[in-house]
Amino acid sequence: MSLEAIPRAKGRVPGLGHVPRLVRAPLRVLSSLHAEGPVLRLDIGTMPVVMVTSAETVGEVLVKKARSFRKGRLFERVRPLVGNGLANSDGSQHMRNRRLIQPMFYKERLEGYADVMNERARALADSWRDGQVVDVDRAMGAHAIETLAATLFSTDIGAPAVRAVQEDLPVILNSMLLRALAPKALDRLPVWRAFDRSAARMRSVIDDVITATRASDPEGRTDLLSLLLSARDDTGAGLTDEEVRDELTTMLFAGTETTASALAWALHHLSRLPDVEAALLAEIDESTGDGPVTLADVPRLPGITRVLDEVIRLHGVVSLMRRTNEAVTIGGYDIPAETEVLLSPYALHRHPGLYPDPDRFDPDRWLPERVAARPREHVVPFGAGNRKCIGDRFSWLEATITLATILRRWQLRPVPGSKPPREATAAMAHPTRMPMVVRRRGDG
Ligand code: HEM
Repeated sequence: MSLEAIPRAKGRVPGLGHVPRLVRAPLRVLSSLHAEGPVLRLDIGTMPVVMVTSAETVGEVLVKKARSFRKGRLFERVRPLVGNGLANSDGSQHMRNRRLIQPMFYKERLEGYADVMNERARALADSWRDGQVVDVDRAMGAHAIETLAATLFSTDIGAPAVRAVQEDLPVILNSMLLRALAPKALDRLPVWRAFDRSAARMRSVIDDVITATRASDPEGRTDLLSLLLSARDDTGAGLTDEEVRDELTTMLFAGTETTASALAWALHHLSRLPDVEAALLAEIDESTGDGPVTLADVPRLPGITRVLDEVIRLHGVVSLMRRTNEAVTIGGYDIPAETEVLLSPYALHRHPGLYPDPDRFDPDRWLPERVAARPREHVVPFGAGNRKCIGDRFSWLEATITLATILRRWQLRPVPGSKPPREATAAMAHPTRMPMVVRRRGDG
């Protein structure tokens, strides 16, 4: 079996393949490829990659034929950096650890994390002054890291870890994708020194906090680290310290930039849609007033959920990768074993056949009757199947609490004359610099 029958995307340059076309405007190119077919061959240099572009072929890869796939090259490259946590592991190790960790994201647990999220959101809203200019992209980045770190570690033991994560994680996230894509031969370049230093420091601080938490009798505590240390599988075995470190690191990588980017884009779009913003304020006032936002309040804030769903449709995860375990047929095309496969939730969510006028921000796309009319396979912001995001409800809870807390106190508007943010390509299509003026609302 070979890849010859799969149509090649246009714009291939000998030796470089599709790299020049992709590098010039990655997001625009990825979201236009559906017009060339549901299954396409891209050449990344000399490496062939099969890209699936339709809801049906994406569904086959993520769900229907998921058994024929494992995580591919990208994950092999990041494994030495972030370890072998849920996002990186495969097969029986993934299945066992997913079963152990899933309950940490059940309703009862989320209710507990909501307390920390409310406290962090209030501290953020308290820290602003009337008329101040806030770099919203950075502020949301710092807030997401602080909030996740505060849920991961218990307050008494975890303070140094929270501080280290705040300092080192942004350094690592900034060059993570580049580092993973660069050939191994370049690993020793001096440009990676700051990255390597931060990665080593974060690892050692996390190791220390694991040791301290294990020694402090973690049973009965409700921070994520204590839960990881107390978890037991059917045979009574728990996770090793190394596994716990890898899972913590994975959560920090998977759960911060994503949530931060969604929050920053939400504040950007709301600043341009005062009617939508006013409707959200009325909704917040009616359901929670000035009080904390609980898990039970989330369904009573459907306007916020629609805004977040639309943000993640427009500015979501750019690419997911898999590798075939065996020969498999996708969209009628045969793909040989050991082939790298690429799909883009970002591109799928801008498919004009699935979302009319796809570049327009329109939270009403998520009104219940419109959601009911849309096949589930069209909506994959958190992936699908057995590798679906474990933190989806966690991040929407955090984002809802943060938005409600900020919006009822502050009105955010772009700094006059500042350029609107653009989409930068990383794990998510996250915003470039977003300076905004914050104004205290009413009686505050
Ligand atoms: C807006 C926020 C988020 C988005 C858009 C997002 C998106 C995703 C996507 C698309 C996947 C699937 C990856 C794949 O199929 O290869 C994933 C997996 C994962 N996410 Fe998230 N995520 C978000 C927040 C979070 C948070 C807050 C956490 C942790 C607290 C988290 C932890 C994970 C983990 C551990 C996995 C791997 C799951 C597995 O393979 O079993 N994510 N995420």
